[in-house]
Amino acid sequence: MENFSIKKLSKAFDIEIDSIASDKSISHRCAMFSIFSNETSIIRNFLTAEDTLNSLAIVEQLGAKIKRDGSYVEITPTSNLTEPSDVLDCGNSGTAMRLFCGLLASVNGSFVLSGDKYLRNRPMKRVADPLRSIGANIDGRENGNKAPLFIRGVKELKPFTYHSPVDSAQVKSAMILAALRATGVSKYKENELTRDHTERMLKGMGAKIETDNEGFINIYPLQGHLKPLNITVPTDPSSAFFFALAAAITPNSRVLIKNVTLNPTRIGAYEVLKRMGVEINYIQKENIYEPIGDIEVKYKELNGVVVEDNISWLIDELPALSIAMSLAKGKSLVKNAAELRVKESDRIKSVVTNLEKCGVSYTEFEDGYEIIGGSLNKACINSHGDHRIAMSFSIAGLVCDMDIEDVDCILTSFPNFKEILDSLRD
Ligand code: S3P
Repeated sequence: MENFSIKKLSKAFDIEIDSIASDKSISHRCAMFSIFSNETSIIRNFLTAEDTLNSLAIVEQLGAKIKRDGSYVEITPTSNLTEPSDVLDCGNSGTAMRLFCGLLASVNGSFVLSGDKYLRNRPMKRVADPLRSIGANIDGRENGNKAPLFIRGVKELKPFTYHSPVDSAQVKSAMILAALRATGVSKYKENELTRDHTERMLKGMGAKIETDNEGFINIYPLQGHLKPLNITVPTDPSSAFFFALAAAITPNSRVLIKNVTLNPTRIGAYEVLKRMGVEINYIQKENIYEPIGDIEVKYKELNGVVVEDNISWLIDELPALSIAMSLAKGKSLVKNAAELRVKESDRIKSVVTNLEKCGVSYTEFEDGYEIIGGSLNKACINSHGDHRIAMSFSIAGLVCDMDIEDVDCILTSFPNFKEILDSLRD
């Protein structure tokens, strides 16, 4: 188990970064959606981290032919998915496990989805229940809520009208994938728009998916095959956010992060930094499946902020934002974020217990926390096996020395994180 010992920066930085990890959500979807075509998909800049390489390996176990040279991937699907002879290992990834549930529910064969000890403890009922209600055969530990999950593919899934009680792109995506093979048009609604990569990418491949004026996403069953993907995966705004945070908390610093997806459902945390006083500029460059461009972040003194709306647009960045909040002038509040409790760790607990070690005053709520800003002190942080906790507190180490235990989890999403962090000192 590796640990980090991060030293305080001795001077400001002004850098351009073009090597931040590729988008995790989009990379998972590239691997999975390629099987809806009968031609070879070409994916440049695929995220070569543990989570997404696991998804690629699963697609290969299902019969696709994979050619990979670094981050360049070609996926040639098989005409019929094959039943794998072994467990499908989703590693640490909730996205992989939940989306594969929707994708495999109507594939001929039996499939076991499992993962690491953190993933096996996360709730799967949120996808399994709506899928069961349309005819899927999914079972698992704890009354079908926990992995390993066992799926026996059924011949037919019923079309559905489903208003999801949870705002989750993973649930939405699983249902959309199931709907593509249902026997009629299905309708899915969420209270708040969550990240919409699934809709954008599948539409780009030719699927008929439309949102009606009552806010229902209408998903039409596939008529034959979709076009293959030909995509360059943009930089992950969630991974990039650690370096946005670094610039936001280091006086006189600036960072320009290249080729990030500027999808509005992914950049909510940058908007929060802006509200805290930081200068943020977006330079949009292209629009292929997603708007893509550069993000410039310039240090300004931070003020406290309230975060309670459009939580899914910044859910993954809340641990990093909690570092900015701890260094801001005044109080900050995070509400309506109970989803944090069921991420890679209980992120409300892992944020507040670690902030407490750094001397920060806080109040914990069931759905968030209040932080009294001011300063952070050196501490020995426990990552709880959660990559975003490990990286958030590593960045905090730039303003006060910090020791972080168990940083291996960073490999799930951002293998060259430490290299880029070290380059801030060049
Ligand atoms: C993701 C959706 C979000 C997010 C996760 C990736 C996706 O999870 O937190 O990191 O790729 O669909 P939920 O759908 O559970 O909110």
